[in-house]
Amino acid sequence: MLSEETTTATQVSLAEKASEPPESLDSIELLRFTTAGSVDDGKSTLIGRLLYDSKAIFEDQMEAVQRASHERGDEYVDLALLTDGLRAEREQKITIDVAYRYFATPKRKFIIADTPGHIQYTRNMVTGASTAELAIILIDARKGVVTQSKRHGFLATLLHIPHLVVAVNKMDLVDYEQEIFDQIIADYKDFAAKLSVQDIVFIPISALKGDNVVEKSANMPWYDGSTLLHHLENVNVGGSRNLVDFRFPVQTVIRPNQNFRGFAGQIASGRIAPGEEVVVFPSGLGSRIKSVVTLEGEQAEAVAGDSVILTLADEIDISRGDMIVRTHNLPQKSNQVDAVICWMSETPMNPQGTYWLQHTTRVVKAFISELNYKIDVDTMHRERTESLSLNEIGRVQITTTHPLFFDRYEINRNTGSFILIDPYTNTTVAAGMIRGRSRSISDLVETAPEPAKRPAIERRKSTDVVWEIGGVTLEMRERHNEHKGAVLWFTGLSGSGKSTVAKKLEQVLFERNCHTFFLDGDNLRHGLNGDLGFSDADRNENIRRAAEVARLGFGHGNIVLCSFISPFQSERDFARSILPEGRFFEIFVKCDLEVCKRRDPKGLYAKALRGEIKQFTGISSPYEEPQAPEIVIETDLRSTEEIVEQIINELEARGILPQ
Ligand code: ADX
Repeated sequence: MLSEETTTATQVSLAEKASEPPESLDSIELLRFTTAGSVDDGKSTLIGRLLYDSKAIFEDQMEAVQRASHERGDEYVDLALLTDGLRAEREQKITIDVAYRYFATPKRKFIIADTPGHIQYTRNMVTGASTAELAIILIDARKGVVTQSKRHGFLATLLHIPHLVVAVNKMDLVDYEQEIFDQIIADYKDFAAKLSVQDIVFIPISALKGDNVVEKSANMPWYDGSTLLHHLENVNVGGSRNLVDFRFPVQTVIRPNQNFRGFAGQIASGRIAPGEEVVVFPSGLGSRIKSVVTLEGEQAEAVAGDSVILTLADEIDISRGDMIVRTHNLPQKSNQVDAVICWMSETPMNPQGTYWLQHTTRVVKAFISELNYKIDVDTMHRERTESLSLNEIGRVQITTTHPLFFDRYEINRNTGSFILIDPYTNTTVAAGMIRGRSRSISDLVETAPEPAKRPAIERRKSTDVVWEIGGVTLEMRERHNEHKGAVLWFTGLSGSGKSTVAKKLEQVLFERNCHTFFLDGDNLRHGLNGDLGFSDADRNENIRRAAEVARLGFGHGNIVLCSFISPFQSERDFARSILPEGRFFEIFVKCDLEVCKRRDPKGLYAKALRGEIKQFTGISSPYEEPQAPEIVIETDLRSTEEIVEQIINELEARGILPQ
């Protein structure tokens, strides 16, 4: 049984591979593997040999190959013709070409992601290997361990392919010498010690002659391990599939009539059964699974890889790109992710550019907010760089315009990966693996020597100065004012409504005869902070000064309302640190970035999206959501009046205002 299918990279995402055969319920019997080798290492011959010896090719194909070999005057049947012949013409037209070949033995089914081995190997391997559970790295016995053998091993580890087979090929050309094989093992192990490879097996073969591929070789009696096919048939599969975390990216909403509303897609990971409680992202609305339906009808359970239609107990609004998960097992949510990407385009990365990011069934706009370093795959050293070009691998921080609901690639290869697409040419330019939420720059000190943030919270002081104590103390003022002094620190994206709420709140406080003081980011940037821009360092200085002014205002018994984007937790913590316990209120003005963009009160998002404003928060500069704010207000869900009331209640409850 053999079939063949070709897919271009624009269609193949690391996350979603609609063109691949669906995994069936018995997919545990299926092994997906990939082969990697340099040109002439014999990859095509090896695949041909596997197909031929396992009787996986059709008679007519075999005859054609025999004829072609004969016409060329070869003494042997060139099995490479089997794979190369099928591929040749496609390669001229298509940039990335992964041919999936299927074959089966009585024990197992196999899918080989066969990628051409020429110069574009890195991206080909990344594309082909993203779902592979095993990678065969071919080494020419005559050449030994070369740079590319290491590169492939590194990539396999990066892609978290759990099983590696180092097939030492062309043993016939080195007289089946055991020492040569042993030396290659020693060299490769030496290198592999630097990688976190879980399982690595070495097999001496001759793809051309058939030694140890399917049949055990009589030429290498010193080798007592398995043949390649035997290993492929027996290696433990399914171990890397995540069957725990239920993730269901919605592909299509199905509504054949008024009475039925189902959500179709492929289960990315985990399992699900009717009756289970679920949450839908991004809305966050909850429901229960009513039924799990496949082509075979209603199911008691479905698992990763199954294509299903889910129906829910409640009518909630769900569309393509949403993700359904279990209530007690949520993915991470962030619009800033830390990732390793492999650049796959001839056109180098434009660090200022806008890309589409496809993550499961969702497509969002994305920006490279930081390019931390590139990895020299040969030496595994990190190098500073301004851009990434074809085949280069780099560590980046990516900001997206909508939040992503993801898992780390390490625990979920499906919801932990994405591709970047060039919006103009619509081609895939990079494949990425998510390491987690964006890390702050100070965590990346190994590559960012100049710390953009203050490492510790410290207050600056001129030399030879003493603090002048005023004649009217804070206690006297508070008794007089009949309320306590406090700092209300509004933080959130531009357009989230910080100033709107703060202004309304100040009016209400004023009417209650409170002493107030209002500090607004835009206003302070007109004078006191007029010398500052929007680099991380300038924002930090902006907040430092604002916090100090707020502290002075507080010292005079005021309720100080501060409205600053203040994107970094460390700076907000600084403001908190210079005020007494219980007097600093971090108020997270929560509002979906999309809503902020739609509101765009100052037209700045439009400019930022056009690239006219650099380092714009939420677009090309990060925003760290507060970790433990005293108050969270949701301006996209509630009216300003309701929110003001919420804050007043909180201030009363915490003793700042009299009840
Ligand atoms: S902060 O990040 O340093 O806290 P701050 O609150 O003072 O920012 O100022 C934000 C205001 O500056 C925004 O409301 C917006 O009007 C304006 N602005 C201009 N350029 C930018 C930018 N690159 N990012 C964010 N805000 C900007």
